[in-house]
Amino acid sequence: MREEKSYVIGTHDAEIERLGVQHRVWRASVLDLWRQGGVTVGQTVLDIGAGPGHATLDLAQIVGRDGKVIALERSRRFLAALSAFAEARGLANIAAVEADLLEYEWPHAVADRAWCRWVLAFINDPAKVLRGVARALKPGGKLILQEYYDYASWHLAPRAPAFEAYVAKIIAKWRASGGESDVGLALPRLLPEAGFAIESVRPVVFAARMNDFNASWPMGFAREYLPVMERDGDISAAEGKEIAALLDRYQADPDALVITPGVLQIIATKL
Ligand SMILES: C[S@@+](CC[C@H](N)C(=O)[O-])C[C@H]1O[C@@H](n2cnc3c(N)ncnc32)[C@H](O)[C@@H]1O
Repeated sequence: MREEKSYVIGTHDAEIERLGVQHRVWRASVLDLWRQGGVTVGQTVLDIGAGPGHATLDLAQIVGRDGKVIALERSRRFLAALSAFAEARGLANIAAVEADLLEYEWPHAVADRAWCRWVLAFINDPAKVLRGVARALKPGGKLILQEYYDYASWHLAPRAPAFEAYVAKIIAKWRASGGESDVGLALPRLLPEAGFAIESVRPVVFAARMNDFNASWPMGFAREYLPVMERDGDISAAEGKEIAALLDRYQADPDALVITPGVLQIIATKL
């Protein structure tokens, strides 16, 4: 069996579950973005860096029997999860393709829409991927993107300096792995250079109390990433314990808020 191609967050079962929570928190916003970007029945849609396919499944239901979703993903574990989810839902219009986005031979003018969320942040040459997406889209086709523009804007309130130091270490870890957490800031230049006209840019941030479902995404990630940071030596065991205790305190506090790291939702048209 070939080696699993993981990335800085991981492709284990708990991560498949976590990406599901993340998708459900963002689902309403994303459905609105897709509608704004003209995703509809009968289209061919690329899901670029699809992960285990939580968004792919929604896209497949929207495009319907006469449409198709091509899910590009490097992790074999994620692809296997995606195929199992699709089968369980009786969705036969998904092509799950094992591909490294930096090596993929992009087909020419096959797609009406392309969706890419939280992928370019992990890639050391996002411009190359955008050129590939431009090739794969039909003229007038649209790329719909969601990426962070200011990961350090992730806060707990009341302010928690130890939490902010942890976030800074997560950002450093991602950068050391060759990615750029705030890749959203590069997109206004990278997109036109790759042959796109930017149609709309929407910054999205939300604040949630700890008992709000929306809080389960950032708070869950903060907690679940602790063992990874510890394992890789990015934080000490003592720091890990201190941050876990801090998260416990905030999650028990009815007045506490989490303010999510800023993302940009961008719609761009292939010229
Ligand atoms: C944070 S996950 C996002 C998954 C999905 N887009 C979502 O929003 O649920 C990032 C995904 O990018 C994939 N990825 C990272 N680098 C990649 C590459 N070079 N080629 C293909 N996929 C890649 C990872 O395997 C992972 O599935």
